[in-house]
Amino acid sequence: MEAHFNSPQPPHSPADSPLFVESRILVVDDDPAICDILFHYLADLGVRCQACQDPRSAAERIRAEDFDVILSDIYMPGMTGHDLLAVCIEHRPLTPFVLMTGSPTLENAIGAIRLGAYDYITKPFNLDFVSLTLNRALHYRRLALQNRAYQENLEQQVEERTRELSEFLFHAVQSLSHALEARDPYTQGHANRVARLVIRVAKELGVDEKEFTALRLAAQLHDIGKIGVPDSILQKRGKLTDAEYEVMKDHVNIGHKILSPIPSLREVSRYVHEHHERADGQGYPRGLTLDQIHPHSRILMAVEVCDALATQRCYKEAWEIPRIIAYFQENAGTIFDPAVAGALIKVLETEGDSFLRSWNDGL
Ligand SMILES: [Fe+2]
Repeated sequence: MEAHFNSPQPPHSPADSPLFVESRILVVDDDPAICDILFHYLADLGVRCQACQDPRSAAERIRAEDFDVILSDIYMPGMTGHDLLAVCIEHRPLTPFVLMTGSPTLENAIGAIRLGAYDYITKPFNLDFVSLTLNRALHYRRLALQNRAYQENLEQQVEERTRELSEFLFHAVQSLSHALEARDPYTQGHANRVARLVIRVAKELGVDEKEFTALRLAAQLHDIGKIGVPDSILQKRGKLTDAEYEVMKDHVNIGHKILSPIPSLREVSRYVHEHHERADGQGYPRGLTLDQIHPHSRILMAVEVCDALATQRCYKEAWEIPRIIAYFQENAGTIFDPAVAGALIKVLETEGDSFLRSWNDGL
């Protein structure tokens, strides 16, 4: 196989390109003469060139090292240039791969490009043409690396902004929660307690972790509509009259109205709206039946009741765990979703005491 030197080089030849200096180019050819010619030619251009006559060992080098360009023969014993190209695409997708062959047919050229080669050189080659092709490949490589860095930076920025936004949302939710607690000290800690137990029950039910943020926000905000209930009713000690109870019930609609305009809280506002619906359709505000109530709303509803039972209210003492468990057993299928009641009972049986202890400690 013969290679032609083209010297002296014309002015502004691609070989003058600064892209060659310190670039890493791997040459693979079973013909030692071709390896030798290309190695010295590229080394003179400032390339940190590696030449390899064994395609299998070239494949190992590609797996271990990142090259700026790979220039490979097609027909070699043991492994073809096409096989080597596949290794490159798998392990080094940003490294342009240039194939060389002594049988220049259009079919071969099209085949090489289809397989993912960057370009195609025929032998015997002109070294100016080689340097022109490699120069273009190095340009392509630089752009690909810049593009990847830009994308990574963009992804990082999006991640940062998303985190900032969720933190902002979380703090805004806490402020809203505190606003309610300031008006109704009776509910102090209620939202936090419900949030903790809601997540525990959701885990027991195998709910996808991606859903936890919405569930936690809904737990924090479920009674936010009480902001719109008059003090005389909200802060009344003792049982509400029927008329007062009707006003109090409106807190689910008010909560829904407060939250639904915020697009990222649309699901949350649904859970808030439904947190007093019952499995048998006897709940409020819409009297939905089990299959019409979102599964997350069913968890929120059951946990809120559990919290109300477990804590002291002006009209009742705090219930012990066994009594709460019995209540959920009796009302699974009527008030509560049986699956949710089952999961809640399981959590109460194993961790109920520790939940109650942390609640009583004000956590
Ligand atoms: Fe409520």
